[in-house]
Amino acid sequence: MDFNRLRTGTASVWAGETEIFPEGSHTVPIFNTVTFAYKDLEEWHEAAKGKQKGHIYSRNTNPTVSVLEEKIRVLEKAETATSFSSGMAAISNTFFALLKPGDRVVSIKDSYGGTSRLFLEYLPKFNIEVTLCETGNHEEMEREISKGCELVYLESPTNPTLKIIDLTRVAAASKKVGAITVVDNTFASPVNQNPLLLGADLVIHSATKYLGGHSDTLCGLVCGNEDLVSRVFQFREINGASLHPDTAYHVIRGMKTLELRVERQNHNAFQIARFLDSHPKIDKVFYPGLENHPGHDIAKKQMRGFGGILSFELKGGYDSVKTVLHNLKLVHLAASLGSVSTLAGTPRTTSHVELTEEQRKELGISESLVRYSVGIENTEDLINDLDCAMEQID
Ligand SMILES: Cc1ncc(COP(=O)(O)O)c(C=O)c1O
Repeated sequence: MDFNRLRTGTASVWAGETEIFPEGSHTVPIFNTVTFAYKDLEEWHEAAKGKQKGHIYSRNTNPTVSVLEEKIRVLEKAETATSFSSGMAAISNTFFALLKPGDRVVSIKDSYGGTSRLFLEYLPKFNIEVTLCETGNHEEMEREISKGCELVYLESPTNPTLKIIDLTRVAAASKKVGAITVVDNTFASPVNQNPLLLGADLVIHSATKYLGGHSDTLCGLVCGNEDLVSRVFQFREINGASLHPDTAYHVIRGMKTLELRVERQNHNAFQIARFLDSHPKIDKVFYPGLENHPGHDIAKKQMRGFGGILSFELKGGYDSVKTVLHNLKLVHLAASLGSVSTLAGTPRTTSHVELTEEQRKELGISESLVRYSVGIENTEDLINDLDCAMEQID
């Protein structure tokens, strides 16, 4: 059977699990070992040189981890994939493996906070220039890219106001100047969007979010073509940000229900966005599935579902935010997203905690903004919970 052609729900269960595991184990064994023994020195030598299949040392490869890498490879329609101890490890290893002093990166102002810090603090230390464009201003991006750059880095939808970037359009501009296009696909997940099919060269995931799905494990993944991924993998081998097999197992187990969870989260988020959009105590709802969202048409073109995250501005400023968040019963007020249970917070306590009030304002992030990462709970229950909490606003 050609596993590359399997649909998402099937691939997330079966990809990487084509052979029967030792002792007939039905689940992926956790190979909790650092090193792998060989009876024969020649065989060991061949495996160490990569001329024959075989694992040597778990900082480099591990059979449990390989199953996870195969799953994301198939889900993202990639040639190959590699894994990391966290999403940030995946992102920073990608930059440090592919860039050199004198290079230039073009990206957006609304990248995840940790990624923005790499752009603003760390890459410039290595004499790598970073230009951050207004998110969603495609003309500005095309202009900056056409001046010449080595890497274009994108997220869509973005955090926390769910802006949408036309990935096909920007990847085409990037290709014209020979730059590598990298897309952080964490928010969409491969259920909703496949950036490699839209022209990207590499896709990154914080598998900590939707792929793992239960907020109990940190993991990062990078997928794309052999050449680029192997450069990133080789840097990780000596940088050491490898994924532990226990963690890989948790993500594999989470991924088995990926499609079920994300479809439910898409549904919940859409219904909640519609409910909030017509609620008198709400100023504004940010959700790409709403027709009044400025990126709706692009999202419709490049996404199969609009995702499980939305944000909204409450009338009454930060006092209303506190009232609502303190009165919600079916959420944890916590950082992160993509879990089976609903999580809510404000950018000033989560993604944009490092920024000043002024900097948040510049990004269009007001004090009255709430980010709401919808879980797999019953839609009506979540809507009732929000409704009751908003009734508490004076
Ligand atoms: C879009 C996005 N990318 C990357 C990361 C970093 O991932 P991790 O926390 O697994 O290092 C996050 C974390 O919130 C994120 O939201």
